Amino acid sequence: MTHPTYDLDAVRRQIPILRTHIPMNNCSQAPQCDRTRIAAETYLASWNEAGMDWDAWIGETEAARAEFAALIGGEAQDVGVATSVSQATASVASGLDFTGKRNRVVASGGEFPTVGHVWLAQERFGAEVDWVPVRDGMIELEDYDALVDERTAVVSACRGYYQTGFKQDISAIAEIAHAKGALLYVDAYQTLGSEVFDAPSSGADFVASGNLKFLMGMPGIAFLWVRPGLSEKLEPAITGWFGRKDPYAFDATRLDWGEGARRFDTGTPPIMEAYVVRAGMAWLREIGLEAIGAWTSHLGQRCVEGALERGLTVLGPTDPARRAPTTAIACADSHAVEARLREENIIASARGPAIRLAPHFYNTTDEVDRALDALAAAMGSGT
Ligand SMILES: Cc1ncc(COP(=O)(O)O)c(C=O)c1O
Repeated sequence: MTHPTYDLDAVRRQIPILRTHIPMNNCSQAPQCDRTRIAAETYLASWNEAGMDWDAWIGETEAARAEFAALIGGEAQDVGVATSVSQATASVASGLDFTGKRNRVVASGGEFPTVGHVWLAQERFGAEVDWVPVRDGMIELEDYDALVDERTAVVSACRGYYQTGFKQDISAIAEIAHAKGALLYVDAYQTLGSEVFDAPSSGADFVASGNLKFLMGMPGIAFLWVRPGLSEKLEPAITGWFGRKDPYAFDATRLDWGEGARRFDTGTPPIMEAYVVRAGMAWLREIGLEAIGAWTSHLGQRCVEGALERGLTVLGPTDPARRAPTTAIACADSHAVEARLREENIIASARGPAIRLAPHFYNTTDEVDRALDALAAAMGSGT
């Protein structure tokens, strides 16, 4: 594969920072593109010129909800709007009952800390949290099998492990969870936007993600998909007026529940963020997630092979079927090396004892090679 099936040059022209930098930090923050900048400006102009236009602003939030639903093959009514994955996870946790016999949470050791923290915070409500171990940057199904039992209320499994890019088999984990009557919570933040992911057929009961990584968006908003029919069984204690049947009923004395996953909405939605992230998601869908997936997988493999050729150590999986586009390269002094690469306008992402390179649909193979050359040189220089 020498180029993607879409027009890479046309794509690149819409991401201004590519004129001067090599951004390869999608595991942390996506670059700004023309569409997301214009979307932010549209909100600012509306606020400035109309003063207030709640109909349009809430309409945009609904459009963002629908766009996220389409991205994961679901329906808008099964998507809640949150402000972060932490909040989405906390909302789900607050709707589960840990007071009875089924009080266990089995969480993968690859969860982003925030998700683990939310589960641990449920211990005061009766939850017991167990961790599926990470071994060599990967998490094996048999370890889920050994831990999930009839007392497990929920299994928490990220689709992509933020540290190494390891991709978990969600359908297989769902089978293990469901066989014991447990629910499956999936944090798909590290993979959505880089692959085709169909939530309804994945087996997951919940799928949460924010937008600022491979979804080309910004912080301040996140989405939560809930399996159709499940929302109605849960009454989240973290709630607010937008979670009501009619938010504009203005009745503080009545707690009714919005349709489907809308009950997971809380307060005034993140409006400007909705403008921005809808634009990012719409662009990805127009280009096509299958084509994007093929190209990001190719770039990811080039990172792995290129790193090995340069004598660097890759942490986690090297098999393309088990990897997100993120490659983690062992690097004791990762923050210093990240800063060194910055001096050459290469944006990588340090995380603990690793430098992560996370190319996306707009990157070229030449950029991957240049980033690896710079990385090998920075590490060789003992920075
Ligand atoms: C997999 C994953 N989940 C969650 C988060 C953070 O979620 P939030 O800050 O939206 O709560 C991150 C990184 O920021 C992440 O990589």
